[in-house]
Amino acid sequence: MTAGWSSSLDLHPHPDSRGLAEALRTAIRDGRLPAGSRVPSTRALAHELGIARGTVTRAYNQLVSEGYLVARQGAPTTVAARLASPDPVDSPHPPERPAPRWDFRPGRPDLSAFPRRDWLAASRRALRATPAGDLDYGDPQGHPALREALADYLARVRAVATTPDRIIVCNGYSQALSLLSTALHEQGLTSVDFEDPSLPQLRAIPDSLGIEVRGVPVDREGIDVSRVRSKAVVVTPAHQFPLGTTMSSSRRTELVQDAKAADRLIVEDDYDGEFRFDRQPIGSLQGMAPNHVAYAGTASKTLAPALRLAWLALPPHLVEPVRVVKRHSGLHAPLFEQLAMAELIRSGGYDQHVRRSRALYRKRREVLLDAIGRMRADHRPYPASIAAGLHLTLRLDPSGPTEREILARARKHSVELEALGPYWVAAGEPPPGVVIGYAAPPERAFGAALDALVEVLDA
Ligand SMILES: Cc1ncc(COP(=O)(O)O)c(C=O)c1O
Repeated sequence: MTAGWSSSLDLHPHPDSRGLAEALRTAIRDGRLPAGSRVPSTRALAHELGIARGTVTRAYNQLVSEGYLVARQGAPTTVAARLASPDPVDSPHPPERPAPRWDFRPGRPDLSAFPRRDWLAASRRALRATPAGDLDYGDPQGHPALREALADYLARVRAVATTPDRIIVCNGYSQALSLLSTALHEQGLTSVDFEDPSLPQLRAIPDSLGIEVRGVPVDREGIDVSRVRSKAVVVTPAHQFPLGTTMSSSRRTELVQDAKAADRLIVEDDYDGEFRFDRQPIGSLQGMAPNHVAYAGTASKTLAPALRLAWLALPPHLVEPVRVVKRHSGLHAPLFEQLAMAELIRSGGYDQHVRRSRALYRKRREVLLDAIGRMRADHRPYPASIAAGLHLTLRLDPSGPTEREILARARKHSVELEALGPYWVAAGEPPPGVVIGYAAPPERAFGAALDALVEVLDA
């Protein structure tokens, strides 16, 4: 073998057998050692690298066992044919951007506040009490213990009128909307109305099934009922997402009466209904018309999105169709999470955690509004009067930077927030704004995160 054979291997000085094997593997994969080519004898390579022969032998043996090298008695060791120069594999995902240092993305709670101890204790209690039979395939509608706990909780806290057999436990609201859209599509639904603005990722769910998505404007009282046309309409009455308004009681009445008259289904997305700060939470719309409203709640804002736990409280005629779609999807909600959630609710730990979180977010909202009020830029909270939820939408100072400029500046400061632009359905030039999720930063870092945000917004 020629001296300097190893020069293309990119080796550290004095490699061990693992380091040498990795360097050879990489060189074979990227074609620097072509298929069928000879590798030096163990003695020659050890000499060239100034390492023990045993180190090279161990590296070769490893690569032979992995199929990268072929060793035959009395013949030189060669690079295996089938593994050499594989086709480059493109990643199906674009490279991920590094996580922002200061995270103000809407839709996230403070994950560092997840009640680990209570969750662990609830899991332990639930698992101890679970009969072996519960580990079977189970009911696609969700475990009865969770449906019972939810029916009770929702009646008590959100004035939802339901029973356990009308509840379907889902893997997040996204799945709930997908199941419901599929069931309604099978029954002939051709279009669905969404609030304008609303979350584009949610609008994409019925859209991907071939259901036309229509945007209906919202004003300070809620969706413009006179412009609703489809047989189903998705609304966020407790806290419009993203604008933050609450549907007025006269608009609720109008929406419900219209739904009854037109035989329309209202889908109530109650994603953060527990977080009302200035008075008692406003009850659900579903309580006014349980046969015309499909109510949806989620643990993504109260506990953590990673749980993928949400629930539908359906009108009786929709339970079986949605249940069938769920059974066919094969996507049951994970049993242990369901049982722990049921136990957390039953024990009072869930209410306690929501109460604690509410106090935390109320304080943050006040501090954020105060900081905005002290800015030189004339950004206006939208709407200023409602204290609820986990996010705040700001109309940007018309004489200041655009949404795009604010976002670019945020990226430079490793701050992440969202522009209001993508939330709109109708084309045009809506007023520029940003959506700030003030719950996301961990509590210990909130002060520093807020300073960074102010730096971005008050350039
Ligand atoms: C408007 C709205 N609805 C519902 C959800 C909850 O979705 P999921 O339960 O799939 O996490 C979110 C989450 O961001 C949301 O912003």
